[in-house]
Amino acid sequence: MSILFIGGSRRKESINAKLKHRLVQVAEKHTFDFELLDADALDAPIYHGDHEQAEGVPKAMQQLAKAVAAADKVVLVSPEYNASVSPLIKNAIDWTSRVDGQVWKGKKVLLAAASPGGLGGIRGLSHLRDILGNVQAWTAPLFACCPNANDETIAAMDEDFLSTFLSQGD
Ligand code: FNR
Repeated sequence: MSILFIGGSRRKESINAKLKHRLVQVAEKHTFDFELLDADALDAPIYHGDHEQAEGVPKAMQQLAKAVAAADKVVLVSPEYNASVSPLIKNAIDWTSRVDGQVWKGKKVLLAAASPGGLGGIRGLSHLRDILGNVQAWTAPLFACCPNANDETIAAMDEDFLSTFLSQGD
């Protein structure tokens, strides 16, 4: 079972990167195979039809599409902005949906978020699930959200819950 972890924030001190790291630690303990993609892997211009026509899908987005296609599961760990999806993740889904092969179709996708707010980013994940439904991904029923997120609250997340979260779709 190979899991591809993708973070939705490029901020140096990203709390979502920290949650992703915690999930990876749990994955390591439970010997899931996994691959990590740095959020920098999502670096691409905002989708633009003229850009696509002139230059095709950017290399980074082609590579991302390949990594998604090769993974058994994808874990997206995304911040919430204004109660919705991280623009980095939305843009990556838009671009990769333009790559031949419908890489998201049937893909098992697990959604996680960390936020300093009390709702933990769950509203953004709910929107993200709708978008992924449009590209025919299968999204797992359990979200892993960390409200009031900081180093301590992320470390305190229940390990059994996180491994159940990661096992979804097995
Ligand atoms: C936020 N943040 C935020 N948090 C939240 O729980 N719900 C929200 O609707 C929003 N909206 C929002 C909009 C914008 C434009 C920014 C910049 C931020 C706060 C956000 O969760 C916080 O900045 C996180 O630290 C961002 O994630 P990373 O970069 O730390 O992973």
